[in-house]
Amino acid sequence: MDNQKKCLYEKFGGDQQVSELIDQFYYKVLFDKLLRDKFLKADMSRVRYQQKRFFSQMMGDKNTQYTGRDLIEVHKNLNITNQQFDKFKIHLKNIAQDMEVPNQDIDELLQQVENHRDLIVFSK
Ligand code: HEM
Repeated sequence: MDNQKKCLYEKFGGDQQVSELIDQFYYKVLFDKLLRDKFLKADMSRVRYQQKRFFSQMMGDKNTQYTGRDLIEVHKNLNITNQQFDKFKIHLKNIAQDMEVPNQDIDELLQQVENHRDLIVFSK
């Protein structure tokens, strides 16, 4: 099959691999001193579940519809900084590299996440 026609979700390996990515990711995030305090009050199984759906849809999976809350509503009172957002992306990059996803696909994912910065970072 022509690799160029695959969506990012397929390039990452589909459902199982995207689940793994999100699980590993939040494991790292919750150990990170810069980020973990933000999640103290969060229901992490809900966050992982919704984030997995959000990412699947963002990465082009036609069978997934994100049904969670509006991203601005969720994040606007969390005072997330640009530095924290950058660290979030670094964890994602590291996990994807560990999973041996090609760099080009990792860069594309990071760009998609980057496109949401203004919905997440309110502490300028
Ligand atoms: C430093 C970066 C980030 C931090 C600290 C953060 C923090 C949080 C927290 C604490 C929650 C749970 C809120 C609650 O249950 O009340 C949450 C939920 C969520 N976040 Fe983030 N977030 C970050 C970046 C992002 C990014 C980049 C995206 C997507 C591009 C995202 C998508 C989501 C989604 C989909 C949920 C679940 C919403 C729901 O439960 O309905 N977050 N985030």
